[in-house]
Amino acid sequence: MTIDLAPDGTRQVKIDVPVTMRSARQKDLGVLSKMWGPVGMAERTRVLRRYFKEYDKNIQRGLVADFNGNAIGQLWLRLSFIEPAIEDGLAVAYVHTLVVLPEFRRLGVAEGLIRTASKIAADRGRTHLAIGVDRPNEAARRLYAKWGFERYYETFDLRGDLVFMRRAVFESDPR
Ligand SMILES: CC(C)(COP(=O)(O)OP(=O)(O)OC[C@H]1O[C@@H](n2cnc3c(N)ncnc32)[C@H](O)[C@@H]1OP(=O)(O)O)[C@@H](O)C(=O)NCCC(=O)NCCS
Repeated sequence: MTIDLAPDGTRQVKIDVPVTMRSARQKDLGVLSKMWGPVGMAERTRVLRRYFKEYDKNIQRGLVADFNGNAIGQLWLRLSFIEPAIEDGLAVAYVHTLVVLPEFRRLGVAEGLIRTASKIAADRGRTHLAIGVDRPNEAARRLYAKWGFERYYETFDLRGDLVFMRRAVFESDPR
């Protein structure tokens, strides 16, 4: 950290703190539930509790982006019991519940999460990542297209108005 003089005479603090990707823990439940804001928090807490139970059974994994000890983003990765239409004959890991706190967006945090998830998927023998996006969420769809995801399936029923996109797992980064 350095403290410099800003052009307007105030002080500017430069910080260089890594955002690390780690496994989600039960004690993150409150902060992970709050990540979308206060509306619908009780329902999200209930859903996340179920995810943690499935985590214990190895059905899915939760990842947290951690900045200075604070959870600032999350992603969940379902590794089994995926709908056949979403698997579509491939060894798929399903990415969902991806969110980054607004103050930390556009810094590459979501990409760090998805690349970490991809490594976990590959280590578990999965060849492809799939993701379902609410149709109106165009910014997210554009982002996934930028990462090489392609649309292959859609639903417009009780499961929701969703566009499913997939790509092969990312190649491992060089050491
Ligand atoms: C989608 C989301 C997870 C991206 O997180 P992020 O950490 O900002 O993503 P990254 O920094 O890795 O990538 C940033 C890219 O996202 C896209 N993007 C993010 N916010 C955007 C916005 N408001 N308008 C346009 N593009 C946007 C851009 O392509 C951007 O790249 P750029 O900065 O080079 O232009 C985050 O915006 C979010 O939490 N949104 C609300 C929840 C959500 O929609 N989740 C997806 C559900 S499928």
